[in-house]
Amino acid sequence: KQKIQIGLCGLGTVGSGVVRILQDHQEQIRYKLGCEVEVAKVLVKNKEKKREYIKDASILTMEASDITDNPDIDIVVEVMGGMEDTYQLMERSIRNRKHIVTANKDLMAEHGDKLFALSQEYDTDIYYEASVAGGIPILRSLSDGLASDKIEKVMGIVNGTTNFILTKMTDENLSFETVLKEAQALGFAEADPTSDVEGLDAARKMTLLANLAFKMPVAYSDVQVAGITSVSQEDIEFAGKLGYIVKLIGIAAIDDGKVEVSVEPTLLPEAHPLAQVKNEFNAVYVYGHAVGETMFYGPGAGGLPTATAVVSDLMEVIKNIRLGVSGKAYVQPQYKTALKDNTE
Ligand code: NDP
Ligand code: HSE
Repeated sequence: KQKIQIGLCGLGTVGSGVVRILQDHQEQIRYKLGCEVEVAKVLVKNKEKKREYIKDASILTMEASDITDNPDIDIVVEVMGGMEDTYQLMERSIRNRKHIVTANKDLMAEHGDKLFALSQEYDTDIYYEASVAGGIPILRSLSDGLASDKIEKVMGIVNGTTNFILTKMTDENLSFETVLKEAQALGFAEADPTSDVEGLDAARKMTLLANLAFKMPVAYSDVQVAGITSVSQEDIEFAGKLGYIVKLIGIAAIDDGKVEVSVEPTLLPEAHPLAQVKNEFNAVYVYGHAVGETMFYGPGAGGLPTATAVVSDLMEVIKNIRLGVSGKAYVQPQYKTALKDNTE
């Protein structure tokens, strides 16, 4: 194919970033792939809203079937969020043999196993790099870069909104409510920020990291979670006097074949590398049996950083299509087993 057509579901913070990167980096993307990428349809909630980066408004639609059932569309890029309806959209797309790129950690952490099994059945790809730690290529690093190692521990700051809030409460003495509003205005927070501030978003990301790192099914419901709503300005000041910084830390570790995952506010000594991670930035520390300590750092939220992960996934999927290896290049072993069990 000389032209790959995509259906973009969502044109908010991340979706607009995707359109911008596809436009601004068009030459480089065409050069690397050897084909054109065209955004053929864009699913939105409100078609009448003014859209800065869309030149032809006729590609906007409010009907999911214009994408899921559109024979011209090869890849569905899901950056709209949501659970049940979005699951239906993905399921229908896969059954219609479309590949998926998504930033939806809620869906992948809770229903990824079913979607992976389905995509195996239909020989389609699901890539979800943007769902964990925004612009940091952490999933690819775990699945490819560290593929030969045995990962023993993954630990880090994986929610940009709470790190932004804690940083401003610590460094600028601002109130939780004021900074949360700022994080929302900057597009870092989820549509319902409860999942950020209660630690649920971080727990979902730690679930996805643990699945990939330890190559074992880890359930989101098994993660021990505490958010930052119980952290007061006084707690932060008191910790500071003792030389500590409060951070929301996720930890996933394997010991004797058993995986434990938790997310909770943690006191870190000021000199600790994770204590230096500020604002919406994320950092993930990975300890491997052979490699030892590694650390990945970058913007964990925001339109353009997250969109780079989405578009890079999109380019991987297109490479797979052109090489004829769709559904084979990025498989999690436990999902192969799940599919085998389902079909026996
Ligand atoms: P926004 O709220 O900014 O944008 C959501 C977009 O999806 C909007 O264009 C909206 O349409 C559209 N939309 C939402 N629901 C529906 C629906 N039911 N039917 C049709 N269109 C719909 O969200 P974000 O861009 O911030 O986030 C999108 C996804 O990316 C989420 O899963 C989020 O968790 C994830 N993510 C976000 C990051 C960030 O920094 N923001 C970082 C990493 C992942 P309309 O414009 O008409 O309202
Ligand atoms: N709300 C999320 C965060 C977006 O603040 O980290 C990135 O996944």
